[in-house]
Amino acid sequence: MQIPRRVWYNHTMKQQELTTENVLSRLPGPLLEWFRGNARDLPWRRTEDPYPIWVSEIMLQQTRVAAVLGYYARFLTAFPSVEALANAPEDRLMKLWEGLGYYSRARNLQKAAKAVAEMGGFPDTYEGLLKLPGVGDYTASAIASAAFARREAAVDGNVLRVVTRLTDCHDDILDPKTKKSIRERVQTVMPEEAADIRIFNQATMELGATVCVPNGPPKCGECPARDFCLSRIRGTAESLPVKRAKKARKIGEKTVFLLLREDKVALCRRPDSGLLAGLWEFPNVEGALDESGAAEAVKAMGLTAVEWKSKLTAKHIFTHVEWHMTGYTLAVAGDGPAEWEWVDGSGLETHAVPSAFARYYAEAEKLLKSGDEA
Ligand code: ADE
Repeated sequence: MQIPRRVWYNHTMKQQELTTENVLSRLPGPLLEWFRGNARDLPWRRTEDPYPIWVSEIMLQQTRVAAVLGYYARFLTAFPSVEALANAPEDRLMKLWEGLGYYSRARNLQKAAKAVAEMGGFPDTYEGLLKLPGVGDYTASAIASAAFARREAAVDGNVLRVVTRLTDCHDDILDPKTKKSIRERVQTVMPEEAADIRIFNQATMELGATVCVPNGPPKCGECPARDFCLSRIRGTAESLPVKRAKKARKIGEKTVFLLLREDKVALCRRPDSGLLAGLWEFPNVEGALDESGAAEAVKAMGLTAVEWKSKLTAKHIFTHVEWHMTGYTLAVAGDGPAEWEWVDGSGLETHAVPSAFARYYAEAEKLLKSGDEA
């Protein structure tokens, strides 16, 4: 196919050559009009209060809107103000976050809430927001614009996709230089009116999430930028954005034990730092152990196996690591290490166990329930 390199755009009766440099300035008008008529009605878009906007942006880091909605509503009911969050017991906070993943977000949220409560309110600038734990470049811009009408461009994966397609930019979006230059360019076209500034970042993101979609053809027929989008005109949209190959994830083999004793199961706490810090898990050891290796490991925990029940395998994918888990369910006698807790069904509910262990958690719930009925 012939790719046109020179594209002309008829704007207010004046022919203008579209270039990577000037095409972005066409975006704000049609984009804002489209957003006002087509945006999803999301709860954090109905407020200008920085507290719920901030909670939503932290929850939406690495997590889809559909997964966030329920957590967001429960969280704000439990902690309706920044002071309530600052004073929340950590276990309650972690329980409300259970299943959402990236748990350091919840800890940072509380650290930041304490700082904000002490300051007597949220900082109202990008620079001030950036100082809060868990708030990076993107989140500071998203809050500064939506809550305080600051002209700060928030550039996430959706925005990178929209802008690289619109401008037919083939730079690697995993290169921080690309993100920096795209942010600078979006910054120059941000609208001036407060009401427009508040929604501009949301609108660009929304276009990326619902029209200029990843994985599969963009819905150019529905796009407010279709007449001037360089990659649509040149036929390159589906090959954008360009991302260099990522490093393969590390595989971590683990053997997980569901240890049952008198209608209780053993839980232990993860270390205070690193992956899933401080959350609860079922006792586990490194490596994929076979039955005899597992029996040795149980003995080394100071326990006696009474009855081996089942073997369950599971896999969990984190950003940089995959856990491949081999699990054994067994009845035991003995106490195990002093720092373990033996919990019944309701005890299990009050301990935050990350979803990496979902298969084992569900099995433990089932076994403890059937123990109740027996
Ligand atoms: N992803 C990140 N922030 C978002 C927002 N405010 N609305 C929808 N999706 C988002």
